Amino acid sequence: MKILVTGGAGFLGQQLIRAMLGHASLDVGGKPMRIDRIVCFDQAVGAITDPRVTNVVGDIADAATVARLVDRDTALVAHLAAVVSGTAEADFDLGMRVNLDGTRALLERCRALGQQPLVLFSSSIAVFGGSLPPVVTDATTPTPQGSYGTQKLIGELLVQDYTRKGFIDGRSLRVPTAVVRPGRPNGAASGFASNIIRDPLAGLPTVLPVDPATEMWVASPRAIVAMFLHAIALPGADWGWHRSLNLPGLTASMAEELAALREAAGERVAALVSHQPDADIMRLVKTWAARFDAARARALGFTADRDFPSIVRAYIDDNPAAIKLG
Ligand SMILES: NC(=O)c1ccc[n+]([C@@H]2O[C@H](COP(=O)([O-])OP(=O)(O)OC[C@H]3O[C@@H](n4cnc5c(N)ncnc54)[C@H](O)[C@@H]3O)[C@@H](O)[C@H]2O)c1
Repeated sequence: MKILVTGGAGFLGQQLIRAMLGHASLDVGGKPMRIDRIVCFDQAVGAITDPRVTNVVGDIADAATVARLVDRDTALVAHLAAVVSGTAEADFDLGMRVNLDGTRALLERCRALGQQPLVLFSSSIAVFGGSLPPVVTDATTPTPQGSYGTQKLIGELLVQDYTRKGFIDGRSLRVPTAVVRPGRPNGAASGFASNIIRDPLAGLPTVLPVDPATEMWVASPRAIVAMFLHAIALPGADWGWHRSLNLPGLTASMAEELAALREAAGERVAALVSHQPDADIMRLVKTWAARFDAARARALGFTADRDFPSIVRAYIDDNPAAIKLG
């Protein structure tokens, strides 16, 4: 089987490809399939060197490029390419082109081949926003408050309809904010939730731009990648007709994040975080959903991290070169 990972050179894309490479075969829609080749498609070159991985650089919104990417051997497409929240809000045209036109170009190519590949679409909890109930449930109507969330929601609807028509076997996951994001921040407005752990652990000062009581719905990259693989593995019948899913996560306040940092690395490291409120970021964050009851996902076997301290410990274990304590 050939697997295509769009946005494969990005943060979650690289982690997903690494996790796939740990298996000789992968359960795809309930059937084990041998991994022959993984195409890592992105605007940037992926860092993974493995004989089974081919890096292809290009633009997801270019239909001719996408036509070359997806062929009759492509049984699985993990569609992660996107411009993220802050960037899509700042550049409306770019967000529409990559997040909407790119998704449609990919789905159209899958449809044209007539092979019904399994398509995993990484959507976001940013499809929810505004005046929400205290706990978002599977029955809560998505009401995005930004261009990124709107583009993700339209992508979900397309995945849903292309599945209904039998063009693809689609699954859309509303991914919590991934914490801790290693390396450099991307254009996500939620970046501070990772910065306040990653930067002090690297010995660097950083800023918390929101009230410490601010809560977010988060999951570790490890948990998210495991949930991606679980979403791919489940038979279509288990998903039923409804192909969008709120993923399990944890509600973490920034104060709880800082307490976990203090517990893992001590007061001196935690003191590298300074509180400098930013009214624009606070206004935006207030529109985000921070509490979910992901009952349907849990019933389907998706699981989240145990607690926030275990997220910090996993980051330290997985990124030894990024930790500078002492
Ligand atoms: N990380 C999170 O907290 C989070 C939360 C919810 C949803 N998601 C979604 O998960 C996916 C992966 O997120 P991530 O954190 O790895 O983001 P990322 O920014 O690290 O990766 C996205 C990748 O898409 C690529 N890309 C952008 N425009 C492209 C184009 N025109 N053509 C080809 N590739 C292009 C980028 O180069 C980048 O490598 C995204 O779809 C994102 O919206 C992420």
